[in-house]
Amino acid sequence: MNTPVEGFSKRSKAEKIDWIAKQYTKDPEASKRILEKYWNTDPKVQKLHDEFIENTISNYYLPFAVAPNFLINDSLYAIPMAIEESSVVAAASKAAKFWLTRGGFKTEILGTEKVGQVHFIYKGEKKKLYSFFEELKPELRKSVSDITENMEKRGGGIKEIQLRDLSEQIEGYYQLHCTFETLDAMGANFINSCLEQFAKTLETKARSYDNFSDEEKNLEVVMSILSNYVPNCVVKAEVSCPVSQLNAGGMSGEEFANKFAQAITIAKLEPYRAVTHNKGIMNGIDAVILATGNDFRAVEAGVHAYAAKDGQYSSLTHAAIDGDTFTFWIEVPLALGTVGGLTTLHPLVKLALEILQNPSAKELMEIVAVAGLAQNFAAVRSLVTTGIQKGHMKMHLLNMLNQMGATEAEKQQLVEHFKYHIVTNASVKEALEKIQSQ
Ligand code: MEV
Repeated sequence: MNTPVEGFSKRSKAEKIDWIAKQYTKDPEASKRILEKYWNTDPKVQKLHDEFIENTISNYYLPFAVAPNFLINDSLYAIPMAIEESSVVAAASKAAKFWLTRGGFKTEILGTEKVGQVHFIYKGEKKKLYSFFEELKPELRKSVSDITENMEKRGGGIKEIQLRDLSEQIEGYYQLHCTFETLDAMGANFINSCLEQFAKTLETKARSYDNFSDEEKNLEVVMSILSNYVPNCVVKAEVSCPVSQLNAGGMSGEEFANKFAQAITIAKLEPYRAVTHNKGIMNGIDAVILATGNDFRAVEAGVHAYAAKDGQYSSLTHAAIDGDTFTFWIEVPLALGTVGGLTTLHPLVKLALEILQNPSAKELMEIVAVAGLAQNFAAVRSLVTTGIQKGHMKMHLLNMLNQMGATEAEKQQLVEHFKYHIVTNASVKEALEKIQSQ
């Protein structure tokens, strides 16, 4: 029978491991050995990782890979990717190489605006609230001047503060809807600090606003928090080439372009397909976000909300055939940072950013969007030609063989064998057993 634990966070790492292993695992000694095996051999590096989060007992590895040959705005990049799914990096690399000889990827930043809101309840005359807000606005800015000073020196800061009336939806519900420019920082701490100060100033100033009745003076803040929905922090990435240069999978350029564009139209109109289509895009996006120490949950939430912004979940990518020109592009909201957070703390994140030539946040937005577009190109190309399983299962072969306990020699032999045979769980098992019995 498991029992609750008191003061777990205060225990030493060894005590935490001992407790968890004994309480929840069949073989506590073996569990401890696994956890310890994944510790970093350098105690300083381990301490760094321990302190990223709370109650750390080990490290959780993901493969860190690179996809080379990305020509983006005429510069050549190798893109670092952290992801567990086989064939994603291979697909990105293949798409990069395909577009390398067709002009590469072009990108454009469509906006970099971040959003945060103070949600509050005011039960009183609307007109009075609006007059109060006009007087309050300069006070709000003044109240955060020590927080915004440095950001403003670098050209960022608070863009706009609006009063929004949502009292039709919820009785008395209003917002301070604020927009920010956070430059190379993702800006979550900056925005939340500003918002929490806005909330205090809003309440304090309301209490002493002479034109308010006692009830109106009592306006009440519910919460203050940034929004991960950033429909004006958007980047566009595009590839384009003559249709005749698109021959793939035994199809003519024209045949391929039409089939590809059809697949995109389906993903635009059909939510079941759109979700999987966008999942493929996120294979590329998340892998770069993770490798560069950004917040993939924030990006995921914002991207999917954006994909549904017109009332129905839809494709993030678009394709057009105009005369002899095929164009394929993505528009995606990405609130990213290349300073602060893990970017200076995590040695691999620092290295990933160095590999990317220490990009600004805008440049990272461009690179990430390109990774998403490339991933989608590769997936849809496979889907409309050979099907996804042929390539995927080949890439998955090593995982299967590892699971089946194949030796290095057996793996080598079977990788060769399956260049010419269909990979399925059963066929791999059978081929391995055959070798082993010889
Ligand atoms: C698999 O991780 C991603 C795909 O399903 C994406 C797609 O269907 O476009 C292959």
